[in-house]
Amino acid sequence: MTAGVDPVKLMKQQVGKAAAERVQSGSIVGLGTGSTTAFAIQYLGERLQSGEIQDIKGIPTSFQAIVLARQYGIPLVGLDEVDHIDIAIDGADEVDPNKNLIKGGGAAHTQEKIVDSLADQFIVVVDSSKLVDKLGSTFLLPVEVLPMAVAPVMRAIAKLGGKPELRMGVKKAGPVVTDQGNLVVDVKFDQIDNPGELEKTLNNIPGVLENGLFVGVADVILVGEVKDGQASVREF
Ligand code: A5P
Repeated sequence: MTAGVDPVKLMKQQVGKAAAERVQSGSIVGLGTGSTTAFAIQYLGERLQSGEIQDIKGIPTSFQAIVLARQYGIPLVGLDEVDHIDIAIDGADEVDPNKNLIKGGGAAHTQEKIVDSLADQFIVVVDSSKLVDKLGSTFLLPVEVLPMAVAPVMRAIAKLGGKPELRMGVKKAGPVVTDQGNLVVDVKFDQIDNPGELEKTLNNIPGVLENGLFVGVADVILVGEVKDGQASVREF
Protein backbone atom coordinates (compact mmCIF):
# COMPACT_ATOMS: atom_id res chain seq x y z
CA MET A 1 0.00 0.00 0.00
CA THR A 2 1.24 3.50 -0.80
CA ALA A 3 2.38 5.25 2.38
CA GLY A 4 0.10 8.07 3.42
CA VAL A 5 -2.85 6.98 1.25
CA ASP A 6 -6.17 6.83 3.10
CA PRO A 7 -7.04 3.08 3.33
CA VAL A 8 -10.78 3.76 2.81
CA LYS A 9 -10.02 5.71 -0.37
CA LEU A 10 -7.76 2.87 -1.52
CA MET A 11 -10.54 0.30 -0.95
CA LYS A 12 -13.01 2.48 -2.86
CA GLN A 13 -10.58 2.90 -5.76
CA GLN A 14 -9.86 -0.82 -6.01
CA VAL A 15 -13.47 -1.94 -5.82
CA GLY A 16 -14.57 0.75 -8.30
CA LYS A 17 -11.92 -0.41 -10.72
CA ALA A 18 -12.88 -4.08 -10.27
CA ALA A 19 -16.50 -3.28 -11.16
CA ALA A 20 -15.52 -1.17 -14.18
CA GLU A 21 -13.42 -4.09 -15.46
CA ARG A 22 -16.58 -6.22 -15.66
CA VAL A 23 -18.18 -3.95 -18.26
CA GLN A 24 -17.99 -5.26 -21.82
CA SER A 25 -18.05 -3.46 -25.16
CA GLY A 26 -21.50 -2.51 -26.39
CA SER A 27 -23.03 -2.37 -22.91
CA ILE A 28 -25.65 0.01 -21.61
CA VAL A 29 -24.39 0.82 -18.12
CA GLY A 30 -26.28 2.25 -15.14
CA LEU A 31 -23.98 4.82 -13.52
CA GLY A 32 -24.56 5.04 -9.77
CA THR A 33 -23.83 7.83 -7.33
CA GLY A 34 -21.36 8.33 -4.49
CA SER A 35 -17.64 8.38 -3.81
CA THR A 36 -17.06 4.68 -4.61
CA THR A 37 -19.00 4.67 -7.86
CA ALA A 38 -17.13 7.82 -8.86
CA PHE A 39 -13.99 5.68 -9.18
CA ALA A 40 -15.91 3.11 -11.27
CA ILE A 41 -17.07 5.87 -13.63
CA GLN A 42 -13.52 7.20 -13.87
CA TYR A 43 -12.04 3.77 -14.75
CA LEU A 44 -14.86 3.01 -17.16
CA GLY A 45 -14.16 6.29 -18.96
CA GLU A 46 -10.44 5.50 -19.06
CA ARG A 47 -11.10 2.05 -20.57
CA LEU A 48 -13.33 3.66 -23.18
CA GLN A 49 -10.85 6.42 -24.05
CA SER A 50 -7.96 3.94 -24.35
CA GLY A 51 -9.96 1.81 -26.80
CA GLU A 52 -9.93 -1.24 -24.49
CA ILE A 53 -13.73 -1.26 -24.77
CA GLN A 54 -16.03 0.42 -27.31
CA ASP A 55 -19.58 1.62 -27.70
CA ILE A 56 -20.60 2.11 -24.05
CA LYS A 57 -23.67 4.11 -23.15
CA GLY A 58 -24.31 5.34 -19.61
CA ILE A 59 -27.60 5.88 -17.82
CA PRO A 60 -26.97 8.35 -14.97
CA THR A 61 -28.63 8.13 -11.55
CA SER A 62 -27.92 11.70 -10.45
CA PHE A 63 -26.51 15.06 -11.40
CA GLN A 64 -23.20 13.87 -9.93
CA ALA A 65 -23.17 10.88 -12.31
CA ILE A 66 -23.93 13.17 -15.28
CA VAL A 67 -21.04 15.46 -14.38
CA LEU A 68 -18.59 12.56 -13.92
CA ALA A 69 -19.69 10.80 -17.11
CA ARG A 70 -19.10 14.01 -19.09
CA GLN A 71 -15.74 14.53 -17.37
CA TYR A 72 -14.57 11.01 -18.30
CA GLY A 73 -16.09 10.93 -21.79
CA ILE A 74 -18.90 8.40 -21.32
CA PRO A 75 -21.84 9.11 -23.68
CA LEU A 76 -25.16 9.32 -21.84
CA VAL A 77 -28.65 8.21 -22.85
CA GLY A 78 -32.03 8.38 -21.13
CA LEU A 79 -34.36 5.53 -20.20
CA ASP A 80 -36.63 6.48 -23.10
CA GLU A 81 -33.82 5.67 -25.54
CA VAL A 82 -33.05 2.09 -24.45
CA ASP A 83 -35.07 -1.07 -23.94
CA HIS A 84 -32.75 -2.60 -21.34
CA ILE A 85 -29.73 -1.94 -19.10
CA ASP A 86 -26.99 -4.57 -19.22
CA ILE A 87 -25.19 -3.73 -16.02
CA ALA A 88 -25.43 -1.14 -13.24
CA ILE A 89 -22.66 -0.18 -10.82
CA ASP A 90 -23.59 1.60 -7.62
CA GLY A 91 -22.47 2.02 -4.02
CA ALA A 92 -24.36 1.38 -0.79
CA ASP A 93 -24.40 2.62 2.79
CA GLU A 94 -25.16 -0.80 4.31
CA VAL A 95 -25.22 -4.36 2.93
CA ASP A 96 -26.80 -7.22 4.89
CA PRO A 97 -26.02 -10.97 4.54
CA ASN A 98 -28.97 -11.35 2.11
CA LYS A 99 -27.53 -8.66 -0.23
CA ASN A 100 -30.24 -6.22 0.82
CA LEU A 101 -29.09 -2.62 1.00
CA ILE A 102 -29.60 0.78 2.52
CA LYS A 103 -28.81 3.51 0.00
CA GLY A 104 -29.41 7.25 -0.19
CA GLY A 105 -26.46 8.71 1.72
CA GLY A 106 -26.07 10.98 -1.29
CA ALA A 107 -29.83 11.61 -1.56
CA ALA A 108 -29.92 9.88 -4.96
CA HIS A 109 -31.74 6.65 -4.04
CA THR A 110 -34.92 7.36 -6.02
CA GLN A 111 -33.20 7.49 -9.40
CA GLU A 112 -30.74 4.81 -8.28
CA LYS A 113 -33.55 2.37 -7.48
CA ILE A 114 -35.11 2.89 -10.91
CA VAL A 115 -31.86 2.32 -12.79
CA ASP A 116 -30.37 -0.41 -10.57
CA SER A 117 -33.64 -2.41 -10.59
CA LEU A 118 -33.80 -2.35 -14.39
CA ALA A 119 -30.28 -3.70 -14.88
CA ASP A 120 -29.75 -7.32 -15.94
CA GLN A 121 -26.87 -7.33 -13.49
CA PHE A 122 -26.55 -4.90 -10.58
CA ILE A 123 -23.06 -4.77 -9.07
CA VAL A 124 -22.73 -3.10 -5.67
CA VAL A 125 -19.36 -1.59 -4.82
CA VAL A 126 -18.56 -1.06 -1.12
CA ASP A 127 -15.67 -0.98 1.28
CA SER A 128 -15.76 -3.53 4.08
CA SER A 129 -17.12 -1.02 6.64
CA LYS A 130 -20.51 -1.21 4.87
CA LEU A 131 -21.19 -4.87 5.75
CA VAL A 132 -23.71 -5.26 8.60
CA ASP A 133 -25.63 -8.14 10.18
CA LYS A 134 -28.86 -6.14 10.19
CA LEU A 135 -29.92 -3.14 8.10
CA GLY A 136 -30.31 0.09 10.08
CA SER A 137 -27.63 -0.80 12.61
CA THR A 138 -25.13 1.87 11.53
CA PHE A 139 -26.99 4.11 9.07
CA LEU A 140 -30.24 6.06 9.15
CA LEU A 141 -32.77 5.10 6.47
CA PRO A 142 -33.21 7.90 3.88
CA VAL A 143 -36.73 8.68 2.67
CA GLU A 144 -37.34 11.18 -0.18
CA VAL A 145 -40.43 13.29 0.50
CA LEU A 146 -42.38 15.96 -1.41
CA PRO A 147 -41.69 19.29 0.40
CA MET A 148 -45.37 20.06 1.13
CA ALA A 149 -45.82 16.66 2.81
CA VAL A 150 -42.81 16.65 5.15
CA ALA A 151 -44.74 17.26 8.40
CA PRO A 152 -47.43 14.55 7.91
CA VAL A 153 -44.87 12.08 6.56
CA MET A 154 -42.65 12.59 9.63
CA ARG A 155 -45.69 12.02 11.90
CA ALA A 156 -46.62 8.85 10.01
CA ILE A 157 -43.04 7.56 10.27
CA ALA A 158 -43.02 8.25 14.04
CA LYS A 159 -46.24 6.21 14.35
CA LEU A 160 -44.39 3.30 12.70
CA GLY A 161 -41.76 3.52 15.46
CA GLY A 162 -39.12 5.45 13.51
CA LYS A 163 -37.29 8.60 14.63
CA PRO A 164 -37.30 10.94 11.62
CA GLU A 165 -35.04 13.93 11.09
CA LEU A 166 -34.96 16.31 8.14
CA ARG A 167 -31.57 16.14 6.38
CA MET A 168 -29.84 19.52 6.49
CA GLY A 169 -27.36 20.86 3.97
CA VAL A 170 -23.64 21.14 4.58
CA LYS A 171 -22.16 24.41 3.32
CA LYS A 172 -25.74 25.30 2.30
CA ALA A 173 -28.32 26.94 4.54
CA GLY A 174 -31.52 24.94 4.97
CA PRO A 175 -32.43 21.36 4.07
CA VAL A 176 -30.86 19.15 1.41
CA VAL A 177 -32.84 19.38 -1.84
CA THR A 178 -32.70 16.31 -4.09
CA ASP A 179 -32.07 16.31 -7.85
CA GLN A 180 -35.87 16.10 -8.18
CA GLY A 181 -36.46 19.16 -5.93
CA ASN A 182 -37.65 17.16 -2.91
CA LEU A 183 -36.46 16.79 0.69
CA VAL A 184 -34.89 13.86 2.55
CA VAL A 185 -35.97 12.55 5.94
CA ASP A 186 -33.44 10.23 7.60
CA VAL A 187 -35.05 7.70 9.93
CA LYS A 188 -33.64 5.73 12.84
CA PHE A 189 -35.41 2.42 13.34
CA ASP A 190 -34.33 0.37 16.36
CA GLN A 191 -34.76 -2.84 14.37
CA ILE A 192 -35.39 -3.46 10.68
CA ASP A 193 -36.49 -7.09 10.96
CA ASN A 194 -38.34 -7.23 7.64
CA PRO A 195 -36.78 -4.83 5.11
CA GLY A 196 -39.14 -5.87 2.30
CA GLU A 197 -42.23 -5.08 4.36
CA LEU A 198 -40.84 -1.77 5.67
CA GLU A 199 -39.88 -0.72 2.14
CA LYS A 200 -43.49 -1.12 0.99
CA THR A 201 -45.02 0.39 4.14
CA LEU A 202 -42.93 3.56 3.87
CA ASN A 203 -43.61 3.99 0.15
CA ASN A 204 -47.32 3.71 0.91
CA ILE A 205 -47.31 6.92 2.99
CA PRO A 206 -48.77 9.71 0.83
CA GLY A 207 -45.99 12.17 0.01
CA VAL A 208 -43.17 9.61 0.09
CA LEU A 209 -41.39 9.28 -3.25
CA GLU A 210 -39.00 6.47 -2.41
CA ASN A 211 -37.00 5.08 0.49
CA GLY A 212 -33.45 3.75 0.58
CA LEU A 213 -34.22 0.07 1.22
CA PHE A 214 -33.11 -1.99 -1.80
CA VAL A 215 -34.51 -5.49 -1.26
CA GLY A 216 -33.69 -8.27 -3.71
CA VAL A 217 -32.15 -5.83 -6.21
CA ALA A 218 -28.40 -6.53 -5.90
CA ASP A 219 -26.87 -9.39 -7.87
CA VAL A 220 -23.17 -9.06 -7.03
CA ILE A 221 -21.51 -7.38 -4.05
CA LEU A 222 -17.87 -6.43 -4.53
CA VAL A 223 -16.12 -5.59 -1.26
CA GLY A 224 -12.90 -3.62 -1.05
CA GLU A 225 -10.68 -4.60 1.85
CA VAL A 226 -7.30 -3.69 3.26
CA LYS A 227 -5.41 -6.57 4.90
CA ASP A 228 -1.82 -6.36 6.07
CA GLY A 229 -1.54 -3.01 4.33
CA GLN A 230 -2.64 -4.44 0.96
CA ALA A 231 -5.91 -3.51 -0.77
CA SER A 232 -7.89 -6.35 -2.31
CA VAL A 233 -11.39 -7.00 -3.64
CA ARG A 234 -13.56 -9.99 -2.87
CA GLU A 235 -16.99 -11.04 -4.09
CA PHE A 236 -19.42 -11.29 -1.20
C1 A5P B 1 -26.29 7.84 -3.06
O1 A5P B 1 -27.54 8.35 -2.73
C2 A5P B 1 -26.04 6.62 -2.26
O2 A5P B 1 -26.98 5.63 -2.44
C3 A5P B 1 -24.63 6.11 -2.47
O3 A5P B 1 -24.59 5.16 -3.49
C4 A5P B 1 -24.19 5.55 -1.19
O4 A5P B 1 -24.37 6.56 -0.21
C5 A5P B 1 -22.73 5.10 -1.21
O5 A5P B 1 -21.89 6.21 -1.30
P1 A5P B 1 -20.34 6.10 -1.05
O6 A5P B 1 -19.78 5.20 -2.08
O7 A5P B 1 -19.86 7.53 -1.19
O8 A5P B 1 -20.14 5.59 0.34
